[in-house]
Amino acid sequence: MSGVSVTKGAEDAVPATGDLVVLSNVNKHFGALHVLQDIDLTIARGEVVVVIGPSGSGKSTLCRTINRLESIDSGAITIDGKPLPEEGRELARLRADVGMVFQSFNLFAHKTVLENVTLGQIKVRKTDKANAEEKARALLDRVGVGSQADKYPAQLSGGQQQRVAIARALAMGPKVMLFDEPTSALDPEMINEVLEVMQQLARDGMTMVVVTHEMGFARSAANRVVFMADGRIVEQATPDEFFSNPRSDRAKDFLSKILHH
Ligand SMILES: Nc1ncnc2c1ncn2[C@@H]1O[C@H](COP(=O)(O)OP(=O)(O)OP(=O)(O)O)[C@@H](O)[C@H]1O
Ligand SMILES: [Mg+2]
Repeated sequence: MSGVSVTKGAEDAVPATGDLVVLSNVNKHFGALHVLQDIDLTIARGEVVVVIGPSGSGKSTLCRTINRLESIDSGAITIDGKPLPEEGRELARLRADVGMVFQSFNLFAHKTVLENVTLGQIKVRKTDKANAEEKARALLDRVGVGSQADKYPAQLSGGQQQRVAIARALAMGPKVMLFDEPTSALDPEMINEVLEVMQQLARDGMTMVVVTHEMGFARSAANRVVFMADGRIVEQATPDEFFSNPRSDRAKDFLSKILHH
C-alpha cells in the first residue's frame, strides 16, 4: 500500500471548501425496475469518490444522472449549489461543468485529436480558435499524447484515445469529472497509462467520481469508496476501512469475488 496521504482518511484530505455535488433522496425507475433507490450522496470539492458494486447495481445510471444524460423521478441533484437544469443552453453549460469519460472513448472519428479537444471549447465555451488550440496542446501534453495532435483517433492506441478523451473533457474546465469504467475496454498494458493520468488529476485536486474495478486505483487515489448494490448505496467508507473491514454481507461477497480473480 502506498503512503499517499489522501488514503489516510477522507476528512483530513478534503479541503474544507464545501460540497460540490449533492444528490438528495434520488429515485429513478426504468419501467418496473427501481434502478436508483433513495440515493443520498454528497461529494466535496476536491474529493475523489470511487463507486463499486456488482453489474446492474446502478453505477452507470448514477453517473448519467449527475450530468443529466438520464432524468430522475424524484429527489434533487445540485452541482455547486445549483439544481440541474431541465434543458436548453443551461443544460449544455452544466454538461460542460461535468466532464464525463466513458468506457468507449466516443471521440469524433473524422476529426483530428486536436480538433476533438478544441471543438467543445469553441462551440460551448465560445473560446477563440487560437486559445482553444493552445489549451488543447497543453492538455494533450499533460496526458502524454502531445505528439499525436494531428492524427485521427483510429491511428491511436486505445490507451492514447482514452487519454485524448480525458483531455477533451478537461478542456471544458469542468468542476467535476465523472469516469465510468474508463479502463475496462483497454488492453491490460494500456490500463496503467490511463490510471496514471487519473492519479495525477486526483493529486491536482480535481473532484472526481470514478466507477472502476481497479481496486489499486481505489486504494491509492480515493478519499472514499461507495459500494452500491440493487440500486442502493449499501455502504461507504475510506478505502482502508472498506477493503479491510467491509460491514455488509453484500460488500464482503463482492470483494471476495473480485479480489480472488
Ligand atoms: N436505458 C435503460 N433502459 C432500461 N433499463 C436500463 C437502462 N439502462 C440501464 N438499465 C438497467 O438498469 C440497471 C442498472 O444499470 P447500470 O448500467 O446503471 O448498472 P451498472 O452498475 O453500471 O452495471 P455494470 O457494472 O454492468 O456497468 C440494470 O439492470 C440495467 O439493465
Ligand atoms: Mg456500468
